[in-house]
Amino acid sequence: MKDFTYYAPTKIFFGVGEEKKVGSIISSYGYKKIMLHYGGGSIKKTGLYDRVVRSLEAAGIEYVDFGGAEPNPKLSHVRKGAGICRDEGIELVLAVGGGSAIDSAKAISVQAANDEDMWLYAMKKATPKKALKTATILTLSASGSEMSSSCVITNDEREAWLKRGFGSELNRPLFSILNPELTYTLPPYQTACGIVDIMMHTLERYLTKAGESALTDRIAESLLKTVVEAGAKAIECPEDYEARAQLMWAGSLSHNDLTACGRDYFMVSHQIEHELSGMYDYVAHGAGLAVVFPAWCKYAYKYNIPRFCRFAKSVWGIEVDLFDMEKTALRGIEATESFFRSIGMPTRIGELNIPASAYDEMAEKCTNYGERTLPGYIDYGKKEIIEILKLAE
Ligand code: NZQ
Ligand code: ZN
Repeated sequence: MKDFTYYAPTKIFFGVGEEKKVGSIISSYGYKKIMLHYGGGSIKKTGLYDRVVRSLEAAGIEYVDFGGAEPNPKLSHVRKGAGICRDEGIELVLAVGGGSAIDSAKAISVQAANDEDMWLYAMKKATPKKALKTATILTLSASGSEMSSSCVITNDEREAWLKRGFGSELNRPLFSILNPELTYTLPPYQTACGIVDIMMHTLERYLTKAGESALTDRIAESLLKTVVEAGAKAIECPEDYEARAQLMWAGSLSHNDLTACGRDYFMVSHQIEHELSGMYDYVAHGAGLAVVFPAWCKYAYKYNIPRFCRFAKSVWGIEVDLFDMEKTALRGIEATESFFRSIGMPTRIGELNIPASAYDEMAEKCTNYGERTLPGYIDYGKKEIIEILKLAE
């Protein structure tokens, strides 16, 4: 087991109707004026917006309404939101929605509190020292942003649609409200994207270099099995509370670093995917991952065949062939890919309408134009990234 620091300060309110308490929860922290931030309007259609507003008004919380966070949220919108926060003296940004609304709220909070351009943080050229507080009401089990230290934004102003995330403890929400019923209205495709993303946050910590770490490994395996089981049920029956609840809690635990304790943490598939959904804005993050991850596995399994065999056995129940472990490892990858397909996810890059002529630019961007490699079993540079993209064909 490797040394680690674990910090998961976000307070969780989990269960049916918890969103109705949001006003009194904010009041209990002493905040009086907030920004209410959300996406393209799904929360208005479902009636959630009205419930939130009623709760804020009942608690005497003043709010400034600022929606419009797009999927794969944009820097220009963040700047607008940050300006409003400054002008209005906002103390906390409440995100109501999925990962995009939450990340947008995190970025607004950081930009509002700092004179430096927040893109410097995304490019890891500077580190933020302060931020407004954020809190969330989650409507999509996927990104884990409701507990994570991460914030992913696409630069739509310059730098040609570069999508970048930055980690900071300032990004951890103060509290998050998780009501599984709020995810009943998700289209199956979006539910499936979430299932893939949740699995990936654990897999990028599980299929790594560090030796075994018994407790963390078993937590990871049980999380993955739970997501596979509950995921299939939620696709089949969108109002299966238990399935939605398991997915929601798994999503939070998968990206709050619990499954990294004592282990390494690679984000190779994530970094490559961010070029897909950064350059091709219509690509949902989970769908991009469903394409990139099997390809990465096919490229990388040879660096740790025993680990890929353990994954095949513990998650997919595949017996390990001790005389041909490579075959077992490959069967585990196939099982993952066929699960993704069974829930309606694409697993080939052509299904996302991304042409081979874009690989070079994606790989160039992924290495920050030659300034970085992606750490993993090996250091992935432009050549390796292109090879992985070709394996996704
Ligand atoms: O915008 P609205 O109208 O709300 O509609 C959204 C959006 O169109 C809709 N939706 C959300 N909840 C719904 C709903 N529709 C019906 N019923 C509901 N209950 O779903 C669409 C997708 O929403 P979005 O927030 O974009 O999805 P997701 O939660 O998957 O977030 C994706 C973003 O998170 C980033 C991704 O890169 C991507 O930009 N990530 C953030 C991470 C983090 N901060 O820790 C980690 C992840 O790895 C990921 O990179
Ligand atoms: Zn992700």
